[in-house]
Amino acid sequence: MTTLSAKREMRVHRDLEELSRATADFFCEVGHQAVHQGGELFVALSGGSTPRRMYEILAGDDYRDRVDWSRTQLFWSDERCVPPDDPQSNYRMVTEALAPVAIPPLNVHRLRGEDPPEVAAQKYEGELRQTFRLLSDDLPRFDLILLGLGEDGHTASLFPGTSALNDTTHLVAANYVEKFKTHRLTLTLPVINHAANVAFLVSGAGKRTILQRVLEEPGDSLPAQRVHPSNGRLLWFVDEAAAGR
Ligand code: 6PG
Repeated sequence: MTTLSAKREMRVHRDLEELSRATADFFCEVGHQAVHQGGELFVALSGGSTPRRMYEILAGDDYRDRVDWSRTQLFWSDERCVPPDDPQSNYRMVTEALAPVAIPPLNVHRLRGEDPPEVAAQKYEGELRQTFRLLSDDLPRFDLILLGLGEDGHTASLFPGTSALNDTTHLVAANYVEKFKTHRLTLTLPVINHAANVAFLVSGAGKRTILQRVLEEPGDSLPAQRVHPSNGRLLWFVDEAAAGR
């Protein structure tokens, strides 16, 4: 394990399988503590491909009973603007991986990618406020937010040069991404940075350069560099290939 600073920690694992298992253990650890302290676990799941194995492990025989799914509120860190059955949908990826787990449907809070982006963002913001039972303009404090890292330094759907990066008034943004010529739905930085735990999952030699830039370059020109929980832990679960070992 490498301690980057008091509140930042990097855990290097041999490969994606070990990284996924370690992240699943961490998920269970945070979940156990959250349920026993606050009664419920509030988690936002990352999309993309890296976390899929972790979700499959969580749904496996030796993990699924370590999580009290009846007291787990599942959200997403971001979503593509596609229907839930689209191969590009993060919701579809997660629900396929977690298929063996009986999660109460009311605990699954899907970003409605099929709706007009602004409508979907507003709906999700309302669902966050209602589920967290937020008063006025408080920020929801997730027990855990999972994130990935794109090779351009994006995380969630906060891409370089996009408007959502500077959105400090919404919980959820409909973010137009020029390079994809489409909108994405994403939690905003105020929400991400209000979490108790934020965990990046980064795997593969293809992420080596961007991971080194995010961790070592000064400043915050890369979106992932803007993630630093104001009162929480930031953990990097990486494999040796991404860490350049
Ligand atoms: C998405 C993700 C995105 C992802 C990174 C890394 O909707 O695609 O939220 O931020 O985490 O692009 O993706 P991979 O894990 O596929 O490399």
